[in-house]
Amino acid sequence: MRASMIRGRRLRRGEALRSLVRETELSVSDLILPLFVEPGKGIRRPIASMPGVFNHSVDTLVEEAKRAHDLGIPAVLLFGVPDHKDELGTSGYEDDGIVPTAVRALKEAAPGLLVITDVCLCEYTVHGHCGVLRHGEVQNDETLPLLARTALAYARAGADIVAPADMMDGRVHAIRQTLDESGFSQLPIMSYAAKYASAFYGPFRDAAQSAPSEGDRRGYQMDPANAREALRMVKRDVEEGADIVMVKPALAYLDVIRRVRDEVDVPVAAYNVSGEYAMLQAAARNGWIDGPRAILETLTSIKRAGADLIITYHALEAAQALR
Ligand code: PBG
Ligand code: ZN
Repeated sequence: MRASMIRGRRLRRGEALRSLVRETELSVSDLILPLFVEPGKGIRRPIASMPGVFNHSVDTLVEEAKRAHDLGIPAVLLFGVPDHKDELGTSGYEDDGIVPTAVRALKEAAPGLLVITDVCLCEYTVHGHCGVLRHGEVQNDETLPLLARTALAYARAGADIVAPADMMDGRVHAIRQTLDESGFSQLPIMSYAAKYASAFYGPFRDAAQSAPSEGDRRGYQMDPANAREALRMVKRDVEEGADIVMVKPALAYLDVIRRVRDEVDVPVAAYNVSGEYAMLQAAARNGWIDGPRAILETLTSIKRAGADLIITYHALEAAQALR
C-alpha cells in the first residue's frame, strides 16, 4: 500500500501559515468575566478554592470591572452575596439590594461595559435552594413571580442582560412577560437553559455561600447523562423568549455545546465553571502545567465545540495572554 499523498505538515510550517488556515479564533470579545459582590467597603477577599478570584465590595468591584474593560473584555456577570437571607430570598429583589447597587455603580463608572446579572434565589434564601422550599421540595410555580421581580429589579438598576439560573420551568416566559409589561421589551434574556447538576460548582458555592443546607439540586438541575434533554430545554427556552442560551458546565459537556450550536440559531454561551477553573489553576500554580497555554487551549476547545460566548473566571488572564 502506498503512503497517502496528504501531507498534513505542509500547512504547519511557521506561525504565519498556521494562522492563515486556523479554523477557530478565540477572541477577547467572546469573554464574560463573573464577579462576586457583597455589602461593605474596601473588601477584596481571596476565595481559597478559586485562586485569583475575590469577593468584592462595590468599590473594589468597580476597579476589577474597569481592569476587565481596559483589557477588552466586553461583559461581566454579577453574583450578589447579601447580608441577610430569608425563606423567600427577598434580599434578591430589593431595589437597593447588593446587585442593583453594584449595577448602578458599574454603569456609572464604565458605561461601555455590559453588565449581566445572574437571576436566582439560592444566594438569598436561608436554605440555599434556587426557589421557594416547601415540604422539602422546591415549588416551581410559586418561584416564578419572585424570579420575575428579581429580573425587574436588575433591569431597573440598568442591567444590560438578565440571566436566569434557577432551572424552574416557565421562568423565561415569566421574566419576559414582566419585563415587557414594565417597559423593558428590549432587554435581552440569557437563559441557563442546559444547566447540569454538577460536582464542578463546589468552589462557586463557597464564594457565593449558596450551598443547599439540605438535599441537593437534582430535582431541578439536569442529569449529567442527558444530551437530548438539553436540546429540548434549549428549544423550549428559545420559544419562551430566550435571546441567548447557555450550556453549563462547559468542559464535561462539549458534546452538548456542539449539538445545541447545530440545532438552534440563537447565540450559544458556555459557562466554564468554578470547579473547572480551580482544577486548571491548581495544576498551573503547582507548576504541573503551563497555565496561560492551558487556559487558551481550554477556551479554544469550548469555542471549537460551538460556543459563541464563554463565561470564564480565566477571562483576565486569557485577555492578557491574547494580547
Ligand atoms: C446558582 C448558580 C450556580 C452557578 C452559577 N449560579 C451553581 C449552583 O450552585 O447550582 C455555578 C457557577 C460556577 O460554578 O462557577 N444558581
Ligand atoms: Zn440558584
